[in-house]
Amino acid sequence: MEITLQRTVAPKQKPDENSLVFGHQFTDHMFIMDWEKGAGWHDARIVPYGPLPLSPASNCLHYSQETFEGLKAYRTAEGSIQLFRPQENFRRLNNSNERLSMPKFDEDFALEALKTLVELEKDWVPYGDGRSLYIRPFMIATEPNLGAHSSTEYKFLIILSPVGAYYESGLNPVSIYVETNYVRAVRGGTGFAKTGGNYAASMIAQDEAARAGFSQVLWLDGVERRYIEEVGAMNVFFVLGDEIVTPALQGSILPGITRKSVIEILKHWGYKVSERRLSVEELSAAYDKGEFTEMFGSGTAAVISPVGLLRYQEKDMVLSGGKIGELSQKLYDELTGIQWGKRPDPFNWIVKVC
Ligand code: PLP
Ligand code: COI
Repeated sequence: MEITLQRTVAPKQKPDENSLVFGHQFTDHMFIMDWEKGAGWHDARIVPYGPLPLSPASNCLHYSQETFEGLKAYRTAEGSIQLFRPQENFRRLNNSNERLSMPKFDEDFALEALKTLVELEKDWVPYGDGRSLYIRPFMIATEPNLGAHSSTEYKFLIILSPVGAYYESGLNPVSIYVETNYVRAVRGGTGFAKTGGNYAASMIAQDEAARAGFSQVLWLDGVERRYIEEVGAMNVFFVLGDEIVTPALQGSILPGITRKSVIEILKHWGYKVSERRLSVEELSAAYDKGEFTEMFGSGTAAVISPVGLLRYQEKDMVLSGGKIGELSQKLYDELTGIQWGKRPDPFNWIVKVC
């Protein structure tokens, strides 16, 4: 399929890199293609960034038939632009589409479209340390029909946003509490998919956490309410003695690409990494024995995010003295080193754009 290009006639002024707020500014262009039952995908185009003409009866607005992804483009010291494991994001988007009963797309074509868009917008990729161009591919159901059934029309879009750190604290440790009231997902539900409804259902907990002075909540499983799952926008890792534990993928948490990369790096370094069930009671007991020493989250937006304080009911667990843990720092340096091209890429994760 050919991608047509309509250039903007009014390029925007680029934002000051020192005042970038996550997801607030967008580049000059976006990618769109359409799908209709019978016709399949068509009209792939890059057009000026702007509002979408959308029927108020569009299925996505009422029944949340929508999926999305998040990845980044990085500028290297030499000035070239590169992506981190983009094929993984498009594979996961198609897995989400399957769960939401939405049509799949050709992943190789989507990658070509992404590269074309990022190359066109290359001047928007920030230069500064820790800054990047956040990429948001997403799909929405657009059939104007209030019947609660799968849409017969969809749009696939990619928009781009220059970003700095996701959390205001940057690499400084965040405070998190274990959520005991609400649950995010259950097995058989949509927890493993990246779909807006999962996030809508978690906003109330996040707002309550913010009011209490915490960055996010740590979700427990929705059935027994004992086993650790993940945080709002990241997967989690725990250092327990000589074992590094992350919750196993059992259908209710997002299979993070950063999570997968962290596991591969840790194994490559010779660490003992376990993907298993981990109850909050086990964690609390390990803390009392002095064995639970470090915790961090992993995600595209959050990168490696050290946790300095974990509260469970009345108990405060202070980790790494409330500072950046040794392993968090080492992983952050390695991962961002690969992403920004400052360190070798032994796993072949990088895809060059231009
Ligand atoms: N878990 C949730 C709920 C997320 O939103 C994200 C962010 O994408 C992650 C985990 C981390 O996934 P990834 O490393 O692929 O960005
Ligand atoms: C990402 O890390 O890419 C995400 O999608 C997190 C998002 C909820 C901001």
